[in-house]
Amino acid sequence: MKILVTGGAGYIGSHTVRALMAAGHSVVVLDNLSSGNAKALPEGVPLVRADLLDLDAVQDALKVHQPDAVVHFAALIEVGESMAQPGRYYRNNVVGSLNLLTAIANTRKIPIVFSSTAALYGDAEVSPIPEDAPKQPTSVYGETKLMTEQMIQAFEKAHGIRSVRLRYFNVCGALPDGSIGENHVNKTHLIELALLTALGQREKMMIFGEDYPTRDGTCIRDYIHVLDLADAHVRAVEALEGGAGSVAYNVGLGHGFTVREVLDAVDEVIAETGNPPLTRELAPRRAGDPPSLVADSARIRADLGWTPQYTDLKRIIETAWAWHRSHPHGFES
Ligand code: UFG
Repeated sequence: MKILVTGGAGYIGSHTVRALMAAGHSVVVLDNLSSGNAKALPEGVPLVRADLLDLDAVQDALKVHQPDAVVHFAALIEVGESMAQPGRYYRNNVVGSLNLLTAIANTRKIPIVFSSTAALYGDAEVSPIPEDAPKQPTSVYGETKLMTEQMIQAFEKAHGIRSVRLRYFNVCGALPDGSIGENHVNKTHLIELALLTALGQREKMMIFGEDYPTRDGTCIRDYIHVLDLADAHVRAVEALEGGAGSVAYNVGLGHGFTVREVLDAVDEVIAETGNPPLTRELAPRRAGDPPSLVADSARIRADLGWTPQYTDLKRIIETAWAWHRSHPHGFES
């Protein structure tokens, strides 16, 4: 199939582009490069530099490249920032996605795989969380993803645009050869920040809140390797090709780690390369953070045969460490 990947120059997008190509699909990337990087793309992949807020540009890309499906990553992704700048998040994530859906409805009515998030469950009452758990996001970011899921379902009913919505838990790790990896403009993710701290780019790690109702008081998250997530996208695209639609899948391992446990694992990984343990400091809670997000991913395992290969947190962190050590300043290294 020919796949249009929005946000394909970003962290998860660039790993998924490679996985789609390895599975024999051809790829066109649409990215405004606001946080993605053209250097993350394999050579020869066509890049349409456009913003989803530009409806004409999106429609043109669909007409010119004639894709068979869309994988839609392009979005702003930071929980904390979304609370401080809600307008930017609603505009980029909701209006941007609405433009994409409108462009698809106006042109080729092709199916879509959407990057959704565990953040839409918010303060979940059950753990692990199944897909039909109540949706009560605690952040604007989570709300924008929930609203987009709702728009996608409405477009599916009205215009027959079939969809698979993948709700990611906490994505981390990198291509094991260290050639691409997490490279966010604003560094906010726990593992990326910890490894950059290990490289001496920051003084210490802040732990945001130790008064959550969890085993050590810090937030619990389900950390999944980016290549396992990329594989979930390939399976989703191929399921759409086979006629699937109207479905949401949680993508996580089903096992959660606290912030302290993650930092302990980081300390173990960096010790192997002779680095001392990270300095830690307690800080207040970060707005919008739910206490615990752990996936029940039985549905994607059963329907799509998805089986994560990276089940060991230390091994996941090692792949990220290989990337950051070889690219201490990201793609500009
Ligand atoms: N944290 C710290 N110190 C830091 C950074 C993070 O204590 O310096 C804590 C956070 O407060 C949170 C946990 O580490 O409790 C994980 O935070 P991240 O920023 O790494 O990830 P989030 O859980 O906030 O969000 C991520 C993605 C979202 C996605 C979500 C789903 O950014 O896009 O996972 O679980 F929706």
